[in-house]
Amino acid sequence: MKNLFVTDTVKMIGKTVDLYGWVDSKRDHKKIVFIDLRDRSGIVQVVGGEEFKSLSTEDVVMITGLVKKRPEKLVNPKLVTGTVEIEAKTLKIISKAKPLPIPINGDGYDINEESRLKYRYLDIRRARILRNLTLKSRATLFIRNYLMKQGFLEVDTPILTKTTPEGARDFLVPSRLQKGSFYALPQSPQQYKQLLMVAGIERYFQFARCFRDEDPRADRAYGEFTQLDLEMSFVEQNDILTLIEDLFTKLTHELFPDKHISQSPWPRLPHRLAKEKYGTDKPDLRKNKKDPDELAFAWTVDFPLFTEQTQEDFFYGSGRAKFAPSHHMFTAPHPDDIPLLDSDPLKVRGLQHDLVLNGYEVGGGSIRIHQSEIQQKVFDLIGFTAEQKHQFAHMLEAFSYGVPPHGGIAPGLDRLLMAALGEASVREVIAFPASSGGRIAVMEAPSPATDAQLKELGIKVVD
Ligand code: AMO
Repeated sequence: MKNLFVTDTVKMIGKTVDLYGWVDSKRDHKKIVFIDLRDRSGIVQVVGGEEFKSLSTEDVVMITGLVKKRPEKLVNPKLVTGTVEIEAKTLKIISKAKPLPIPINGDGYDINEESRLKYRYLDIRRARILRNLTLKSRATLFIRNYLMKQGFLEVDTPILTKTTPEGARDFLVPSRLQKGSFYALPQSPQQYKQLLMVAGIERYFQFARCFRDEDPRADRAYGEFTQLDLEMSFVEQNDILTLIEDLFTKLTHELFPDKHISQSPWPRLPHRLAKEKYGTDKPDLRKNKKDPDELAFAWTVDFPLFTEQTQEDFFYGSGRAKFAPSHHMFTAPHPDDIPLLDSDPLKVRGLQHDLVLNGYEVGGGSIRIHQSEIQQKVFDLIGFTAEQKHQFAHMLEAFSYGVPPHGGIAPGLDRLLMAALGEASVREVIAFPASSGGRIAVMEAPSPATDAQLKELGIKVVD
C-alpha cells in the first residue's frame, strides 16, 4: 500500500521514499528533467535523468527518490513542498495516459459543462473540484462529531419507500414482487424522522440522500442531493435555531478560517418584513457583495402556514382547494393562530424557519404538528381526497400512541457548501452530478431496460 502523500516529504529531508502519483507537468532541461508529481495532497518537484524523457503528463508512476532540501534561492513559497525536491533513483511507469480530452490545470470555469461532466473523473483531478470534495468530507465529519456530542443518534431510513410530499415529482421504482405497485424514492426522510420521534429517538440526524424530479437550476441539483436532516423532540423553535447557529458558526471557524460571518447572532427576519424590506424571503445580507470571504447567515421566520394553491401544486390536487402548505403539510401552525384555521387560514403563521446564506435558501424546517385533529384539518384545507389522506394514515395512527412535540430542519449540504465556497452552481460540489436532461454523463444513465427486465416487472413501454 502507498503509505506517503507527496506533501509528507517536507518532513522527510535526507530520507529515501517511495512516491506514487500522476505526472502533473514536465520540464525538459536536456540532461535533467523536472516533473511535478501530483497526488491527492498536492505536488512535489522531482528531478530525473534520461529515463524521464518518455513521460507524458497524467502518466501514473512510482518513483523512489531521496528527499533533498532546496537551496534557499530555489525555495518556492507558493508550494507546500516548496522547500524540498526529490532526487529520483528509480522510475516505474505504472500506466501511460493518452492526451486528456479536457484540460485540468485551470479552474475549469471556461470549459463546456457537458464535457466536464462526461469526463468527470478527470475533472475531479482539477485542484478546485478536489478541494470542494475535500471540504464536503471534512464538513460531514465535523457535523457528525458535533451532533454526536450533543446527544444525537445517526439513523438511516429507507430509499425504497412511499411518496413524500415536498412539492416535486417522485421517482418511481417498479416492484417485481407486487406487480403494478411502485416504490417512490424519498424527496426527504420527513415522515421517517417524525416516526423516529414517535419511536423515542429524541435526537436524530442523517446525511440523507433526497430524490426530486424537478427542473435543475444553478442552486438545484437534478435528481438527487444531500441534506443534513435532523429532528428533535421536546424542543421549541428557538432551540433548533440556536443549535444550528452554533454548529455552523463553529464549522465556519474550523473549515473556512479565512471567512467571516457578517453578523452574530444571526438576524431573524419575520417573513413579511423580509418581503417588504428586501423583496424576497432569502435576502443577501452581505455588507460587501464583492467580498468572497463574507458569509451572511440569517433566519426567515413567521412564514404564513399556507399559500394560495396554484396549478403547480399538483401534489395537493391542482386547484381543488384554495390552500397549499408554504413549507410542507406537517408544519405546525403558530399556537396563537389555531382559531384562524377555521376563520381565515391565509392569516395563520406557521412555525417554519428557513436558513439563508448569502441570498440562498440553504435550509428549511419547522416545528411539526403532533396532534391528529390539527393534522386532519390541514389535510382538509389543502384539499386532500380520502385516498390521499389514506396515504398518510400511518402518520395519524403513529401519533395515537404517544407522540412527543418535535421539530427539525434540513440544511442542504450541497447548496450550503456552494454558497459558502462562492461557487455559482451546486454541481461544483457534487462528485457526479446529473447534467442537462437528467443524464449522469459518465455512465450514460438512464438507459433502456431489457425486454426480459420489463417482462419480469410486468411493464410495457408505450411510445
Ligand atoms: P426543503 O424541501 O425546504 O425541506 O429542503 C431543505 C433544503 O434542501 C436543499 N435542497 C436542495 N439542494 C440541492 N438541490 C435540490 N434540488 C434541492 N432541493 C432542496 C435546500 C433546502 O433548503 N423535509 C424538509 C425539511 C424539514 O422540514 O425538516 C425539506 O426537505 O438547501
